[in-house]
Amino acid sequence: MAPIKPTHVALIMDGNGRWAKKRLMPRSFGHREGSMALRRLVIDLVGAGVPYITVYAFSTENWSRPQAEVDALMGMIGEFFSSYIDELIENGVRVRFLGDLEKLPEGAKSACLLTQEKTKELERLNLNIAINYGGRDEIARAARLIAQKAAKGEIDPGSISQKDIEEHLYTKGIPDVDLVIRTAGEFRLSGFMLYQCAYAEFYATDVLWPDFTIEDFNKALAAFGSRERRFGGLGADGKQQ
Ligand code: FPP
Repeated sequence: MAPIKPTHVALIMDGNGRWAKKRLMPRSFGHREGSMALRRLVIDLVGAGVPYITVYAFSTENWSRPQAEVDALMGMIGEFFSSYIDELIENGVRVRFLGDLEKLPEGAKSACLLTQEKTKELERLNLNIAINYGGRDEIARAARLIAQKAAKGEIDPGSISQKDIEEHLYTKGIPDVDLVIRTAGEFRLSGFMLYQCAYAEFYATDVLWPDFTIEDFNKALAAFGSRERRFGGLGADGKQQ
């Protein structure tokens, strides 16, 4: 029997800075190579049997990096979606953004919104890009939206359920994360999809993000296939998790 594949894989693309440092290059060079690694991986993932991919491109905490690095990343995000929108469309990739795009510079924001709009009917691969995203921020936002509805009498506060929370997350309609992959040898979630990762498996690799390929992705899938997921229940041997 073929191993079970995850439906939704989340990727924490770490190690761009270290990749550049090893080559005595500026950090922005690492981010640029990182964006090319993402481009290659997305194309390789089209039709590969994992329908949802989410990548962490810029966190709410990343604004505290040196201004030159923030500017370089924002420029790259704008350039990436302006340059590859046609490639994404040709490959049937639906792109959605998770996070508050309002704070982005106009060029980056409009390239993101245009890509989201132009790919919204596509369904070969769902690619979610987290930008200006934080998991706590997302949960606080959901609470605010629900409270506003409760104040207007549209929701009964006494019957707010997990489903209501899920309906107000950026990932509304997107399945929970099954597998989180983090590159560059770190074992942290860094606030990534805190709600959606409740029962996700975690896989860490030492590969730095700019070097990450479909072969590395497949290694993570193989590891996932050998895990026993119990979702808080009992395992096949009857033992509690
Ligand atoms: C973490 O590596 C990476 C980021 C904060 C940015 C990720 C961005 C990209 C891969 C490219 C831009 C994305 C798009 C969608 C065009 P780090 O800089 O923290 O690396 P380090 O830990 O080695 O310093």
